[in-house]
Amino acid sequence: MSKNIDKSFLFSEEMEFLFESVFDKLPIAIDILDAEGNIRMINKTFLDYLGLEKDKVINKYVLDVDRNSRFPLVLKTGQNEIAYRHKFANGKEAIVHRIAIKDGDEVIGGFGMILFEDLNELRKLIEKNRLLETELEHYKKTLRKIHGAKYSWENIIGKSDAIVECKKKAMKMANMDSNILIYGESGVGKELFAHAIHNSSKRRDYPFVTVNCAAIPEQLMESELFGYEEGAFTGAQKGGKIGKFELANHGTIFLDEIGDMPYTMQAKLLRVLQEGEIERVGGKAPIKVDVRVISATNKDLSKLVKEGKFRSDLFYRINVLMLNVPPLRERKEDIPLLIDHFLSLLTQNSGIYKKVSKEVYDILEKYDWPGNIRELRNVIERMVVNSEGDIIRKTDIPLYILKKELPVRKKGSGLQEMLEEFEKEIIFETLKECNYNKSQAAEILKIPRSRLYRKLKKFGILEENNEVK
Ligand SMILES: Nc1ncnc2c1ncn2[C@@H]1O[C@H](COP(=O)(O)OP(=O)(O)OP(=O)(O)O)[C@@H](O)[C@H]1O
Ligand SMILES: [Mg+2]
Repeated sequence: MSKNIDKSFLFSEEMEFLFESVFDKLPIAIDILDAEGNIRMINKTFLDYLGLEKDKVINKYVLDVDRNSRFPLVLKTGQNEIAYRHKFANGKEAIVHRIAIKDGDEVIGGFGMILFEDLNELRKLIEKNRLLETELEHYKKTLRKIHGAKYSWENIIGKSDAIVECKKKAMKMANMDSNILIYGESGVGKELFAHAIHNSSKRRDYPFVTVNCAAIPEQLMESELFGYEEGAFTGAQKGGKIGKFELANHGTIFLDEIGDMPYTMQAKLLRVLQEGEIERVGGKAPIKVDVRVISATNKDLSKLVKEGKFRSDLFYRINVLMLNVPPLRERKEDIPLLIDHFLSLLTQNSGIYKKVSKEVYDILEKYDWPGNIRELRNVIERMVVNSEGDIIRKTDIPLYILKKELPVRKKGSGLQEMLEEFEKEIIFETLKECNYNKSQAAEILKIPRSRLYRKLKKFGILEENNEVK
């Protein structure tokens, strides 16, 4: 049932009291007219704008106060005029609303209001807004470049049935908008798939933000993911910090190594996925976010669920779609293609041009590649750097692949070089054995972890960010 305002209320003392006590103090110019066009109430802001005293206005016919007013027309027709440009008799230009107040069909009065007091100010505002929008667009683009996905389907090399099937499945998933869990052994290309999926999804023009759940210390995880407000804790940055989820808004967040997400964080992550909103650390109100989650793991999450290490409710939320990336040993026909691909990447990046002998292709194709494509890539890079001449031969293949117990003495190498080579082999093989877990490798080798890191950096196995290449 719609309620009507009746005339006796509109022009009652209560209404006048309300007008004076509330509306007089508003910084917006407003007035109320009766059906005949007499100004019955007007606030101080409006009077100041007109430059008139109240007694020169109140109960006067509107055209006697402002000869340009269109209110008589509005009161006659009952047609509201919203955001009209109006030039007052005093020469000032503004944007105004004129609204007919009705009791049923009968016009019983009028409500006037100035939306923008000064058209020049409005023009400036619009111009400023336009500049800000251009600037914003620029920053959005830059951000997209930084947080964009780097790889697409063409970067995923392979013609084996296994990888072709996997790509097809992933392409289908890209067109849906559900969360995806990518499962696969270390180095199979999970990250590559995550990039390519985002890049061909409807979210491709928005950010792709990666979070390595294993690399962020537990106590920093919440603020990394959800951000924090200024003063949330000691050492908090001025102005606060935006979290990865907010950064990824409308795009995709890639939660790499999700199996390493601390248990307490899992509950918080679950809430975000359920509610579609995040809460900054020290923040007062939740913030809506629209983010697709792609997670990746090389751990058996259902096993972790059974062991009570991973929340089952979170597992179901992230695992709406599941993509299994096959290990390299199950698609050996891709090995020659991948070798060529990595050689040509090296040529592009460093200008070094080398070929691989037939024998080398054969040996590398037979090997089982427990470290998958990452290991293959490493081996190619090391062979390219270490080999002499422009052909890579059998003697350039790392010994652990050739399954020799001891290094052969290479022509021209001194003892130091040979020892280093041997050390490299041992470290590399140990790393591979424990799935590139550096702490475990250090333990097996009985050396401190820091020493292992130093050696890995020296051998070029470890990158600056401490990731195994
Ligand atoms: N099909 C492929 N074609 C070309 N390069 C690939 C392919 N798959 C993987 N790579 C390359 O192999 C390396 C490892 O891939 P990626 O980092 O995606 O593996 P991952 O499954 O995420 O490994 P991890 O579990 O260790 O994080 C990268 O250098 C990537 O570019
Ligand atoms: Mg990865």
